[in-house]
Parts: sequence; structure tokens; C-alpha cells
Amino acid sequence: MNIAVLGAGAMGSVFGAFLAGQPEHVVTLIDIWKEHVDTINAQGLTINTTEGDLVVKNLTAVTSAKDLPPQDLVIVFVKATVTEAAMAHAVNLVGPSTIVLTLQNGLGNIEKLCRVVDPKCVVGGINSYGSAIKGPGQVILRGRGETVFGEIDGSPSERLDKLKLVFDAASLPASVTTNVHGRIWTKLISNVAINALCAIIGIKNGQLLNYPESEALVEGAVGEAVSVAKAMGITFETDDPIAYAKKVINNTGENVCSMLQDVRAKRETEIAVINGAIVEGGLKHGLPTPINLVLTNLVKVIQQNYPA
Ligand code: PAF
Repeated sequence: MNIAVLGAGAMGSVFGAFLAGQPEHVVTLIDIWKEHVDTINAQGLTINTTEGDLVVKNLTAVTSAKDLPPQDLVIVFVKATVTEAAMAHAVNLVGPSTIVLTLQNGLGNIEKLCRVVDPKCVVGGINSYGSAIKGPGQVILRGRGETVFGEIDGSPSERLDKLKLVFDAASLPASVTTNVHGRIWTKLISNVAINALCAIIGIKNGQLLNYPESEALVEGAVGEAVSVAKAMGITFETDDPIAYAKKVINNTGENVCSMLQDVRAKRETEIAVINGAIVEGGLKHGLPTPINLVLTNLVKVIQQNYPA
């Protein structure tokens, strides 16, 4: 398969590296970070795992998609804040039979992609891996998680059954769902619980449950998200979203979450499509979301005050 990964941050690099491990794929990473791109092309991409370093050389990195032909698969891994703009600059990657798969955090990525490419090409999904950029050409893989995707209209799908086999073969075990919006909301619950709180307090995910004060905020933020999801007719893929959030916190206990990584690197965060999306949904449905509003506003102020 010809596979392009749009956004070679920590997650995009990990997925690109594992897929490139299969000789039948031609993998191209696309990222505007030139130093990262140049290092990958010169020395390969190094994935630092608990079992040791994996150095992947049979992939190419580019800073722009403009000279690439249409691909069989485009995996979108840019920050949710730039989904639409990044895809708009890479529409030449998409032909009539291309699958454009979002595995990003947050709400709204499917809708943004559908605004710039044929919605029939767009597939929704989630992943729950923990990873971080160590430096140009180097990524730390902290924890393996799940990858789930599904057609956006909820139909069963032969193309996704085949895609699952591609991911499985590359040691990225995947499953296909007919409730992708519920799955994205279920993943969102963990981001609502973890990301803003860890970014504000400056702690690893697991520490959130060490203090009754932060645990209460986890429960409060998730409780508000559940009310909004119910009003929107979302069916979660868990019976107990608070227990689910705590399980993710424990499973990723040693992670520095992506939003804290963003704050430390002085980058714009995904707050608007995580806790901010709960506030927006609450406003639409007349539901109070005070905890998510405070978390959203605090992170927005933090990111406007990064030291120069
Ligand atoms: O955004 C993140 O960091 C991850 O989605 C998660 C699951 C919160 C783990 O750190």
C-alpha cells in the first residue's frame, strides 16, 4: 500500500514506523518540522521502546505533500487544531479510493476532513497509545494501546475489515466498530479527565488519582461530559465512563499527557476540541459545565502566556 501519515509528531511517527516495517508498504511521513524530516531521511526514525530502540530506515519524510501522488491510505495525525488546514494543503493525496483515516484526539476531526475531501473517503477512529517526541527523528513509545476505526455512517465495511488486517500485520492491533462516534466520545472521556488537569497542575496521568481534590475534578469533568453526550444521543462503549476514565489514568500512569507536552513545548493545545467541546455542547443543550469551563479557560490563559 502507499501510505502517507499527515503529521509526524509522536503518534504519527510511531504508526508510520510500524507500518513501514511491512515491506509491501511505501510509507511517507509529512510534517512541517524540517529538522525532524531531515533527520529521518538522513539517519532513519528511532522509536525508543521498553524492549530497546527500533530504527526504521525504509520510510521517507517530506515537509509538504505537494509532490506526492494519491495514496491508498492517509492517516491524519496532526493536532486537531490544524486538521482542516493540513488536509486542505494535502488534497492531492486523496483519490476516489483513498481512505483518509483520523486517529486524532478530540471532537470534530471527521467533520473538518469532510469539509475538504470527499466524505466517502473519510473514516473515523481513535488510538490510545502513549508516546512523546524525544528530539528530531526520535520518538519514545511509552505504552501500546488500542486502535479502533469505523465508517462514519456506522455501516459494516469490507474496506475496513481489510485495513484492520494491515494494522494487525504491522503489530498495531486494530478493531472495526459500527459505532465510531460513540468510540470517539469514549476516548474523549479519557482526554476530558486527564489532559487539562495534568497540563494545569503539571503532573503525570497516574498522579491525578493520588489526591482526593484532583480525583473529584476528574469525576466532575467526566460527569459533565456524560450529560452532554447523553443529550446528543451518543452511546458510549462503556457502561461506566468514570470507571473507564480512571482505568485509562491507571493504564497510562507514567505518561506525560499530550496537553502537558504541548504546554511544556509552548505549543497551542487541543483544549478547544476536548474540554472546550464539552462546554460548547453544554451551551447548545442548556446543560451547565462549570468544571470544563474552568479547565478550558485556565488552559487558554496558560497558552497565551508562554514565556518567550
Ligand atoms: O492525549 C494523551 O496524552 C492520550 O490520549 C492519553 C490517553 C490521555 C494518555 O496520555
